[in-house]
Formats: sequence, C-alpha cells, structure tokens
Amino acid sequence: MIKIGTKIEKAVEILNKGGLVAIPTETVYGLAANALNKDAVAKIFAAKNRPSFDPLIIHVAQFSQFKDYCKRIPELAELLSKAFHPGPLTLILEKKELVPDLVTSGQNTVGIRIPGHSTTLELLERLKFPLAAPSANPFGYISPTTAQHVADQLNHAVDYILDGGPCSLGIESTIVRVVNDEYEVLRLGGISLEVLEKVTGKKPSSVLLSSDNPAAPGMLSAHYAPRTPVVLIDKNSDLSAYNLQEAAFIGFSALRDDIPQENQFILSPKADFNEAAVNLFAYLRNAERLSVRWIFAELLPEESLGRAINDRLKRAAAK
Ligand code: TXA
Ligand code: MG
Repeated sequence: MIKIGTKIEKAVEILNKGGLVAIPTETVYGLAANALNKDAVAKIFAAKNRPSFDPLIIHVAQFSQFKDYCKRIPELAELLSKAFHPGPLTLILEKKELVPDLVTSGQNTVGIRIPGHSTTLELLERLKFPLAAPSANPFGYISPTTAQHVADQLNHAVDYILDGGPCSLGIESTIVRVVNDEYEVLRLGGISLEVLEKVTGKKPSSVLLSSDNPAAPGMLSAHYAPRTPVVLIDKNSDLSAYNLQEAAFIGFSALRDDIPQENQFILSPKADFNEAAVNLFAYLRNAERLSVRWIFAELLPEESLGRAINDRLKRAAAK
C-alpha cells in the first residue's frame, strides 16, 4: 500500500500517537516525529538506519516558540530568524532540558528552523510539540524532493506521507551556529554565504564543511550518494578510458558531445542556480535509474547556490 495523501488531520492523529509522517518542506521532504517523545524519535533513527551520533533538527511554526526549546537566543539569531524564516535556515542554539538528548545526540545545542511550506506550517500549528525531522532518505542516500521519492525508499517505515508537491528549493537548509555575535556556517544550503553576509553585515567566523567537522556530526564526506559511482569531471577531462555508452552525465547548462544525449541531465539550460537546485536530487535519481556504470558530474561556478550544489556533488562522489 502506498501511503501518500494530503490529509493534514491524518498526519496530526499519527504524530499525536507517536508515529512517523513524511512532511513536505521547501528544501527536501522530512521524516517527522514528535521531538519531545523519545520513542517516536527513536523510530526515525531506525527507519533511516541513521547513526545515533547524528543529531536531528527540530521544526516549529513561530519564532516565539524558540524560547521554549532554546536557553538563550542571541540578538544575531533573532535577526537571522526574522530575515529568513519561514525558510531554509537552521540555527544551532543552546538547548533547554526539555529537548531529549536523543534528538541532539547528547550535545548541548539544538538545530531549529521554521520551514517555508504552507502545508507543514499548518500541521505544526495544530500540534502541541515541535517536529524532529531529518531528510526522509535512507542514511547516506540522495535526499527526497517529492512524496514519491519518499515512497520509493521508506514506504514500509512511515505511517503516512503528506504530499505537498515537489520541493520549491530542492536543497537542504543552510546550518548556522550562532555564538553571541558571531556565526559559523556548518552546512551550505538554501541561503547562500553572500546573502548571509549581506543580512548580518559580516563574514562568518568560519565555514566548516569538512567531513572531520566535529560540530556537525552528520556532515560525513560520503553522503547524498546514488548507488552508481559518481565521478567529477570538467570540460577538459579526458574520458577515453571509459565506455561512454555506459555513462550518464549531470551538467550545469551545456550538453557534452561524447556521452549519449539520452543519458545527459542538464540542471539548468539557462544556467540558473535555483533551477539547478530544484533538479539536482531528482536528476541524480534519474541517472541512477539508467543502470549505467558511471555518473559523470560537472561542478558549478563556486558562488551563490552553486557552492551548496557543489558540496552535494562532491559528497555524492566521495565513496
Ligand atoms: O532542509 C533541511 O534542513 C531538512 C528539512 C527536512 O528540514 N532537514 C535535514 O536534516 O536536512 P538532516 O538530518 O538530513 O541534516 C541535518 C544536519 C545533520 O548534518 C546534523 O548533523 C546537523 O544538521 N545538526 C543537527 N543538529 C545539530 C547540532 N545540534 N549541532 C550541529 N549540527 C547539527
Ligand atoms: Mg539528510
């Protein structure tokens, strides 16, 4: 039985009972449970096969709820929330006791965001608790940007998949840790560094993106990966060692002439970063479905959302 539907009441009922519901957001679909119910949260880790050292983000409907779960809200965090929420920004703040250690993997901080999707905002308004929700994919695999993507992989593990259409942004939230009046970027995502700098009037104290980053335990280098090997190339790469009939290509705006056209996925023919982000994860899935031996992928210019897309492509290639 496919569990996809659009009934918010049904999602409310299941979540109130400690069940799992996949929820739409503007970034990617999340696998949600009552963040204050340890047994419900444990089901998320089991369903995703996610290691318990990798903390979850909690989702709320209003900024006024931050104080219920976070000990201190520095002015800079308030400024960022006011500027970007609802939207693709996760703030890492000191947590209150009430937030279970299982959610935060024992850290004294919690990731919190207000998702920019009307269905999920309405759902959150009807609940008396925040939703813990990682991306709704098996650990290490490509994030889902449609309800069907979730059904393809986690149908057996969820009680319901709330369908809110394809994700409008298509890449995860930017994760920012705020400490007093400084901020660190722990994951590149839907809010670019340029925009963060403009709004805060300063550069981040650091941009920590490596796999050995103890601040974001989930940022393992191999991640977002299809089962087919992904190989990063550029325009001048010599591919003569490969049988290109058995290869797919994911490129930014232009086709290559050495790989069969029907195996090529162009993220944005008009070279638009937003359009590229929307297509990224779906195209990785489509390329995998061709059952080729290699997926060649080309990096985008290192600016704006291009940086976040490149981060995902590099991780997909790091096996
Ligand atoms: O866009 C998103 O953020 C999506 C949607 C569903 O909201 N969620 C998402 O969750 O991408 P997930 O679990 O796939 O990625 C969350 C990342 C992980 O790398 C985790 O390690 C990091 O956030 N994280 C969560 N809590 C943290 C904390 N307290 N300190 C540092 N990193 C944290
Ligand atoms: Mg994820």
